[in-house]
Amino acid sequence: MQGWIPIVPESASSFSWKVDALYFYLSGVTLFFTLLISGTLIFFVIRYRRRTPYEIPRPVAGSHKLETVWTVIPFVIAMTMFLWGATVYFEQYKPPQNAIEVYVVGKQWMWKLQHATGQREINELHVPVGRKVKLIMTSEDVIHDFFVPAFRTKADVVPGRYTTMWFEATKPGRYHLFCAEYCGMNHSGMTGTVVVLEPRDFDNWLSGNTGTMTPAAAGQQLYQTLGCASCHGANGEGGRGPALTGTFDSEITLTNGGKVKADEGYLRESIINPQAKLVAGFGPIMPTFQGQVTEDQLVQLLAYIKSLHTTGTTTTPAASPSPARAVASPSPR
Ligand code: CUA
Repeated sequence: MQGWIPIVPESASSFSWKVDALYFYLSGVTLFFTLLISGTLIFFVIRYRRRTPYEIPRPVAGSHKLETVWTVIPFVIAMTMFLWGATVYFEQYKPPQNAIEVYVVGKQWMWKLQHATGQREINELHVPVGRKVKLIMTSEDVIHDFFVPAFRTKADVVPGRYTTMWFEATKPGRYHLFCAEYCGMNHSGMTGTVVVLEPRDFDNWLSGNTGTMTPAAAGQQLYQTLGCASCHGANGEGGRGPALTGTFDSEITLTNGGKVKADEGYLRESIINPQAKLVAGFGPIMPTFQGQVTEDQLVQLLAYIKSLHTTGTTTTPAASPSPARAVASPSPR
């Protein structure tokens, strides 16, 4: 689990070397100026030391030229850090389109993960090498932080909202997963492992772990048992709530004329606090489901709504690992 430099963890994701390059650049600049400044300091101390007890130094007048130089050079260096850092940041925090999705729920003190194909894991995440993986994360209690040092990425896991992060593992292996936000007594024990497998091994792992319903199928079931369907038919049946098909990721017009994108956060809010952002044309009749659905169930309801495409058909079969594989073939290595 060690890289070629001691204390630097192994580099195992598509952008980890970019983070490293930036980090070494920052360290290099820091080291250069530390040596330059302390060297100059020591040189001046010796060169301009007091030689006789009553020596009066020559008065020094300012120099605009010198001040301009030592303002402009650090400005340019600071801007290279900013622009470089922003580039790396945007790549890391803009989730890709064609990614495998995994739902993550953090709680004191464990990680609960579920694949879109239904497989559940605790404190362990199996992913294929060379494929983009997107995590959709929330917390049951306090703020946690999902951190995989070998992938050089981390993101806060916050109660009451969804955060995302993504990575593409480049090397099969087992990598540490840490909670990187102090979350109570056993924070330091809130660890796990990300297991990166060759695509064929990953497919074997998926097919060896079926039997659990997909989140979307579980969500569909929940949608029936909670009675959502009586107002909110997938295609508008019921008539008292907006149709759900094609809702995800679409732009919704609200009663106050505003517009909002129906992302995970909006859908979640509309279940927990339905009055907050009413869809135009519908009255404030939906009761809140706060306290009636767990975070896991909310994730399932979301997965169900996401699975309702505009074609009017649902893609919610029982546990079957095929959708994850169908997206793209792994890139050659
Ligand atoms: Cu969870 Cu620290």
